[in-house]
Amino acid sequence: PIRRITAPEIRARKGGEPIVTLTAYHAHTAAIADDLVELLLVGDSLGNVMYGMETTVPVTLDMMIIQGQAVVRGSKRALVVIDMPFGSYEGSPAEAFKNAVRVLKETGAGAVKVEGGVRTAETIRFLTERGVPVMGHIGLTPQSVLTLGGFKAQGRDEKEWDGILKDAKAVDEAGAFSIVIEAVAEPLAAKITGLVQAPTIGIGASAACDGQILVMEDMLGLNERVPKFVKKYGSLKDHIRGAIEGYAAEVRERNFPAPEHTYSMRKAAE
Ligand code: KIV
Ligand code: NA
Repeated sequence: PIRRITAPEIRARKGGEPIVTLTAYHAHTAAIADDLVELLLVGDSLGNVMYGMETTVPVTLDMMIIQGQAVVRGSKRALVVIDMPFGSYEGSPAEAFKNAVRVLKETGAGAVKVEGGVRTAETIRFLTERGVPVMGHIGLTPQSVLTLGGFKAQGRDEKEWDGILKDAKAVDEAGAFSIVIEAVAEPLAAKITGLVQAPTIGIGASAACDGQILVMEDMLGLNERVPKFVKKYGSLKDHIRGAIEGYAAEVRERNFPAPEHTYSMRKAAE
């Protein structure tokens, strides 16, 4: 039987072969990626990607649990990590614990992820000490869009470095088993990676990180507009449009369904 990769196994990969991770929201995409990656993140980016939201702010715990269940069902080997959505962990460590336990119990996932550095460290420690593996997320933290006023790369001015370095250290010392670094200038991402014990997983944070993550739909070419840090490894949108065009044309020509897709009457007994 195939055994799940665990959070401690990801942590032990620090400084070794790069850790390959992707987001997944569905059973079918999870199943396709499962043996090709080490970790599947059920990101709250599903709000944008699946549900057409402008930001991740409206994403609910129930949405994360439903999609998390789908990804756990669809996969056998990858560690499944589920994003705690905006509002589910910032109020207090105790509330974060209650919500994180719901996520783990109802989905069977192996860990949760929370955004924020110094401000979230106490909660990361609280959860980790009570049996909830936590992935950190620093640099650009999209759930803070309403206070930030927008999305921009972090650490491109040296005066921003001190705060981000403090965030990295706080999350690391609090016991995060790995740390996502989002949209951070290369020299700072490299410095953080050298400084912390936990493996860093970069998204728009250079090849210096211990691993990489991308939103699967972005790298597959399903979305027209993607951030600078996305490389499109596929062009699924064109593929899907081509298939739908073929279907539409054959339906209009009455060439689909063909005899092999059609039920005939049973032959009468002789
Ligand atoms: O929600 C998400 O997909 C994420 C990753 C991009 C790190 O948080
Ligand atoms: Na996220």
